[in-house]
Amino acid sequence: MLKTDILIIGSGISGLFFAMKTAKKRPDLSIVIMTKETAKNTNTQLAQGGIAVVTNHIQDSFNQHIKDTLRAGDGHCDEEIVNMVIKQAPDRLKELIEIGTSFDKDQEGHWELGLEGGHSQHRILHHKDSSGLEIENKLLKIIKKMPNIEMLENHFVIDLNTETKKNKTTCTGAFFYDKKHNRIKYIRTRTTVLSTGGCGQLFENTTNPLIATGDGIAMAARAGAEIEDMQYIQFHPTALYTGKENQLFLISEAVRGYGAHIVNEDQKRFLFKYDTRGELATRDIISQAISKELQYSSKNHVYLDCRHLDRDAFYNQFPAITAHCNELGIKPETDLIPIVPAAHYQCGGIKVDRNGATNIRNLYAIGECARTGLHGKNRLASNSLLEALVFAHQASENIDRTIAEFTYSSKILIPKFPKAQQSNDYYAFDILKKELKGLVTAFYTSDDRNADVAHEKIKMLNNAAIALIEAHEITIPFIEFSNMLATALIIIKQCKTEKKEMC
Ligand code: SIN
Repeated sequence: MLKTDILIIGSGISGLFFAMKTAKKRPDLSIVIMTKETAKNTNTQLAQGGIAVVTNHIQDSFNQHIKDTLRAGDGHCDEEIVNMVIKQAPDRLKELIEIGTSFDKDQEGHWELGLEGGHSQHRILHHKDSSGLEIENKLLKIIKKMPNIEMLENHFVIDLNTETKKNKTTCTGAFFYDKKHNRIKYIRTRTTVLSTGGCGQLFENTTNPLIATGDGIAMAARAGAEIEDMQYIQFHPTALYTGKENQLFLISEAVRGYGAHIVNEDQKRFLFKYDTRGELATRDIISQAISKELQYSSKNHVYLDCRHLDRDAFYNQFPAITAHCNELGIKPETDLIPIVPAAHYQCGGIKVDRNGATNIRNLYAIGECARTGLHGKNRLASNSLLEALVFAHQASENIDRTIAEFTYSSKILIPKFPKAQQSNDYYAFDILKKELKGLVTAFYTSDDRNADVAHEKIKMLNNAAIALIEAHEITIPFIEFSNMLATALIIIKQCKTEKKEMC
């Protein structure tokens, strides 16, 4: 029977940073990272913008960053958490730099700080327009060399195991699907850390990769963890519109910070009608403004206009974005870039305390899957990588202090699922997933009556999935689809509760 002191589920920035710090401090502990595809296939590696950190205390201050975060969160942030995260930011940044992560500097050797929507100051440290990739690469490099960390790719965690004694529920291990050997297995753990990312794939248009199917939320909910604020899904206003794919290429917020404009069909800027900050308003405001503009015009996209910017400097600042546009035949120096809002970030998630601990003993959640209280209703740009680092640190410190109290359960569990079969049902579930995405998008963006219709249809899909559980072999597409459904139903429930409370 497999066992590990610490199981980390997910290989984005939060899981890797947590693993690195904990492994360094506690070489006596065994750490396993399980990830459902390759280690690099994460949302982190797609993060373009960077990390918001106050490094210039002459023009900027912690207080200004705190104020900007609270304003973006629209009265729903936990102020104590906001304070903690923003004040810890320089220390966490230092740790990233110590492992060789490089952030851009100007010719005098000062940080080249970017500006993004909702920020009152330039304070975003970035690595061109591939900040997440740079961080992910550096963390993976270090982790490979650490003898007490084992990275298991293509290991898809299906469910957490819990035991309840005297009203206290404890996480004692996890069932997982070992894709290579096509078997479902069980691992005993002393502590488990969820760093499974978000659920952008629930929507028709998203910047998230195919893996973002809400797995962590669904399995934590099944285990009895509290889930909060899932109604706050952030839409990024500037995803590249092609009219084809579901995962849309992100055009970083930093492009607007750099001076790009958003224009409508008539090539007119319209955002100042909605907010005095224009292109530099927060994402929720800009996304809603674009949606309204699209309703008026009956078009399916607006445009990002970069034509007035210095071509060479722009290409130098945003090499990945300009290369991608060029591949599609779009030249930002002469062409308008078609854009739409797309689901980008899950502001809520598994409810955790300041140490990343959930209401289930020995179960932690960090990164996008966690609801920490930092983001409120709408996350401030480039606060997510920061949150991931800070909560990975907090969880690591807490587990270091307390793991002596955590013991392995003496129960030996045999996987309760039927043996997995090689499946060729990806296609069938792709169709079901597409239907679900359409319905969730309709629920999220329609008036009450149409939202109710979409909800009824999602319930029918769920009933069909429950019936399938009896008859169907456990396969990856089946598990993902079930997780997507479970997460969709949580979002809908929390949206409805909020609507009722507002009435
Ligand atoms: C972006 O570069 O616009 C994305 C960064 C973020 O989500 O904060």
